[in-house]
Amino acid sequence: MKNARIIGVGHYVPENVITNEDLTQWMDTTNEWIVERTGIEERRWISEGQTISDLAYEASVKALKMANMEAAQLDFIIFASLGSDYEFPGGGCFLNEKLGVPGVPALDVRTQCTGFVYGLTVADQFIKTGMYKNILVVGAEVQSNSMDLSTRGRDVSVIFGDGAGAAVLTASEEPDKGILGSRLHADGRYTGELCLELPNINQKPRISADLLDSDRIYPYMNGRFVFKHAIVKFPAVIHEVMEACDLKAEDVNLVIPHQANLRITEAVSKRLGIGMDRFVSNIHKYGNTTAASIAIALSEAYEEGRVKDNDIICLAAFGSGFTWGAMLLRW
Ligand SMILES: CC(C)(COP(=O)(O)OP(=O)(O)OC[C@H]1O[C@@H](n2cnc3c(N)ncnc32)[C@H](O)[C@@H]1OP(=O)(O)O)[C@@H](O)C(=O)NCCC(=O)NCCS
Repeated sequence: MKNARIIGVGHYVPENVITNEDLTQWMDTTNEWIVERTGIEERRWISEGQTISDLAYEASVKALKMANMEAAQLDFIIFASLGSDYEFPGGGCFLNEKLGVPGVPALDVRTQCTGFVYGLTVADQFIKTGMYKNILVVGAEVQSNSMDLSTRGRDVSVIFGDGAGAAVLTASEEPDKGILGSRLHADGRYTGELCLELPNINQKPRISADLLDSDRIYPYMNGRFVFKHAIVKFPAVIHEVMEACDLKAEDVNLVIPHQANLRITEAVSKRLGIGMDRFVSNIHKYGNTTAASIAIALSEAYEEGRVKDNDIICLAAFGSGFTWGAMLLRW
């Protein structure tokens, strides 16, 4: 059986930097509150006219370049995101068009912050079964346009940002390299704890003037509830995948968690007994970019020389759904 190896990574974030100070022009908040509660100092927002698939395209081009591969060599595209350029079709089709690869299948994965781990896991299965050889997995997100920037929405809108990251996977003959294993979970009892409810397809009329005044057209987050679940589920699923791969915490060279909140990452580091020096954290620069966050962090860590040949890397995520998952790979 072939192994799925990541041979290219890339990321792209919009140029438009929004600092915590910038947010104070719209809402009652402070740099101190945001930094203390989340670790976030700034985030990126798209400029007018930019779309999710634009971000995904830029990240994909970089990942393909590193993989020394043409888009035409791709057998499959997996696009993880909360959104798309339109309500439908999915963002994978918009990316397919931009990459100029008509006919290459494109699958959208909508598992929020866990999207990139779900996407890599799907890619791993297709490669292991021999169905596909080269797969592009992208995590891309535009959060800035859906935020309530008034004080009403400040607990959510200070956290999220825009960006994209991508990975190119290929079938490898090397038995000990590539994805070693993964574990995925979802618990739909908590759909309402972190969600964007409206407008949705069940409403008639789907969009009305009243709706524009409703806070239900903005993301809702039960922050404390999410926090409490995240700090339990992250370590649990990491332990689960380590056990499945017969590896221990001391074997892991680098943990790249979903960048939810610096306090969550620190709590997970403590619970796992893996020091923060073996964690990647870039949340201070980008905030929480949902499905894009692990992809961006992996690409940056690689650029910074923190990902080395033969390293054991752990990717882990938790988010809306709730969904959570973890993956181990040998670089
Ligand atoms: C969101 C989060 C930072 C809020 O921190 P918290 O300590 O739980 O704060 P609370 O929600 O209890 O709010 C405390 C106070 O700060 C206020 N507040 C909320 N957002 C604020 C902001 N951006 N600026 C200033 N004050 C704010 C609240 O209104 C509240 O005021 P009150 O005491 O007068 O009622 C925290 O719950 C969290 O990190 N949760 C996890 C979020 C996450 O990671 N989500 C992504 C998962 S993928």
